[in-house]
Amino acid sequence: MRVRIASNSCIKGPYYRIVLNPPSKVNITPGQFLMLRPATPCNSYDPLLPRPFSIHRVDQSGNIEILYKVVGRVTTILSMIVEGDEVDILGPLGNGFPVNREVVGDNILIIAGGIGAAPIIGLGETLRTNYPDRPIVIILGGRGEADLLCVEDLKKTAAEVIITTNDGSVGIKGYVTDALEEYLSRRCDPGLRTTVYACGPSPMLQKISEITGTRRNIETYFSLEANMACGIGLCMGCAVKRRDRGYYLVCKDGPVFRGDTIVL
Ligand SMILES: Cc1cc2nc3c(=O)[nH]c(=O)nc-3n(C[C@H](O)[C@H](O)[C@H](O)COP(=O)(O)OP(=O)(O)OC[C@H]3O[C@@H](n4cnc5c(N)ncnc54)[C@H](O)[C@@H]3O)c2cc1C
Ligand code: FES
Repeated sequence: MRVRIASNSCIKGPYYRIVLNPPSKVNITPGQFLMLRPATPCNSYDPLLPRPFSIHRVDQSGNIEILYKVVGRVTTILSMIVEGDEVDILGPLGNGFPVNREVVGDNILIIAGGIGAAPIIGLGETLRTNYPDRPIVIILGGRGEADLLCVEDLKKTAAEVIITTNDGSVGIKGYVTDALEEYLSRRCDPGLRTTVYACGPSPMLQKISEITGTRRNIETYFSLEANMACGIGLCMGCAVKRRDRGYYLVCKDGPVFRGDTIVL
């Protein structure tokens, strides 16, 4: 589907917010994504393949917001797009974060690193609306202050936002996983059921899996990143190993998976 751009602006450094204006409102589950490709003049094939982006938010009038970091060819082209230009999108795709009663514990912990903050605003807002009596703690990390996104919005959603930066420019100096370890060891009542949701780079997710799953048996849901060419289960390019046997496709079976079902 071809959609018009309502706005596209730099938030800070390499991070941008693009707002798409689809013809009709879409219903999404937080954690779902779109395949997106800039619409090119004369329908040229450059860039050939679309790229996956999480849906950050759908606003009251149905506009879809995406946060993106400029890292390569498509995101550089995206950063040059202006209001009134068009992009091609496919979606919403994939399975988002589960928020049903069987899954959500008495304590809710959401962890995001860098651009991993993009889908967790919607997740936090949904959980706060559906479970107003359950405390939500968010651990947000980045290399430095410039990599911390959506801090003010997250503070409105959570009972507490713990910030970490690798360089110590804001919050606790270190990684989100240091703050997680500290929180679970000293401040989290082990008698209560805790559910963890996480989105960020693979090494961060691996470490979280070790802390929550292997050592504590806490139910944890990960939103995975993978190279995607089609986004709909056709190219087999986004396989992730299953714990039992075989592979899942991140685009079709995920991108959100329960930690104990996959090999990170
Ligand atoms: C389900 C899903 C949701 C995603 N949601 C978002 C989102 O909301 N916002 C967002 O910005 N990105 C998101 N990504 C990552 C995004 O798809 C890639 O950043 C994008 O494909 C880069 O395209 P490109 O053509 O600009 O870079 P490419 O030319 O494809 O890559 C350029 C270089 O950057 C590296 N690279 C790719 N991705 C990243 C990254 N995330 N950080 C650092 N280096 C990277 C590549 O390995 C390569 O070396 C998501 C990915 C998945 C699978
Ligand atoms: S991206 Fe093609 S199968 Fe997942």
